[in-house]
Amino acid sequence: MSDVLVCVRDLIKTYASGTETLHILQGAEFEIKRGSSVSVTGESGSGKSTLLNILGGLDRADSGSVMVGGAEIAGLSESALSVYRSRRVGFIFQFHYLLKDFTALENVMLPAYIAGVKKKDALEHARLLLQDVHLEDRLHHYPSQLSGGERQRVAVARSLVNDPDLILADEPTGNLDSQNSALVAELLYAGAEKWGKTLMVVTHDKGVAERAEARYTLAGGILRTVEGLEPVKLATGGAQTGGLEPEGSQAGAWEPGGWEPGGSQTGGREPGGSL
Ligand SMILES: Nc1ncnc2c1ncn2[C@@H]1O[C@H](COP(=O)(O)OP(=O)(O)OP(=O)(O)O)[C@@H](O)[C@H]1O
Ligand SMILES: [Mg+2]
Repeated sequence: MSDVLVCVRDLIKTYASGTETLHILQGAEFEIKRGSSVSVTGESGSGKSTLLNILGGLDRADSGSVMVGGAEIAGLSESALSVYRSRRVGFIFQFHYLLKDFTALENVMLPAYIAGVKKKDALEHARLLLQDVHLEDRLHHYPSQLSGGERQRVAVARSLVNDPDLILADEPTGNLDSQNSALVAELLYAGAEKWGKTLMVVTHDKGVAERAEARYTLAGGILRTVEGLEPVKLATGGAQTGGLEPEGSQAGAWEPGGWEPGGSQTGGREPGGSL
């Protein structure tokens, strides 16, 4: 298995605005090692959410390549993309998007249950994840009965429940005070580490960005290193693509019907250590 999970090359994204064309991404490229964390900062409107949405299959680029786990996301049909989104990616947004009529436990277990995991197993997994974010005493609270920080911690737990390869967080602490920001960020990074997930965080918060192993900024439509503002450029050809052969079962899992709930998805959920 390649140690590179995400490899993005020459990503171009424009939006039409009246008669104008907005050039948002202008050849962004980077790769993310499996199990590592990356943060992206940048001015408002620089394209951070656009980039994250393309990576998560919520939006499509005009051109360029987005390989995740050896499969080209850009080439997926709408239905395969929807399977990719729900099974391979965990999302966390600035707003928690919890379902108001469901408890914390139900909110976390639902994506797994919908994916076909047995209710008992989904509940058990959700309970464990809520323990990780220190909400074992809030399992049966509805979102309206939780604080802002607690809601985001539920969202962190929910992002992990389908055992995704990739966690994408867009301003996960954007709505929180500094104390809650630090706690939610710590639980997010620690959760990703504990479960061996690859994490990409878009943030305006310096402290949240600095916790990542690799730090980039998005400026002028391309990703740059935070330190020198050098454009991130991948070598042409070479190991990045060579090492990204489609990974059989995984690539197949993105095809509708190619996913077996209760299979590898529920296995291997016993990492060592604790948060
Ligand atoms: N659907 C759309 N149609 C037209 N323009 C869009 C669309 N979506 C985004 N944009 C524009 O693309 C640019 C990048 O938007 P994006 O949301 O990616 O920025 P961002 O870096 O996430 O900003 P912020 O830090 O404020 O969240 C913005 O100027 C925005 O107005
Ligand atoms: Mg944004």
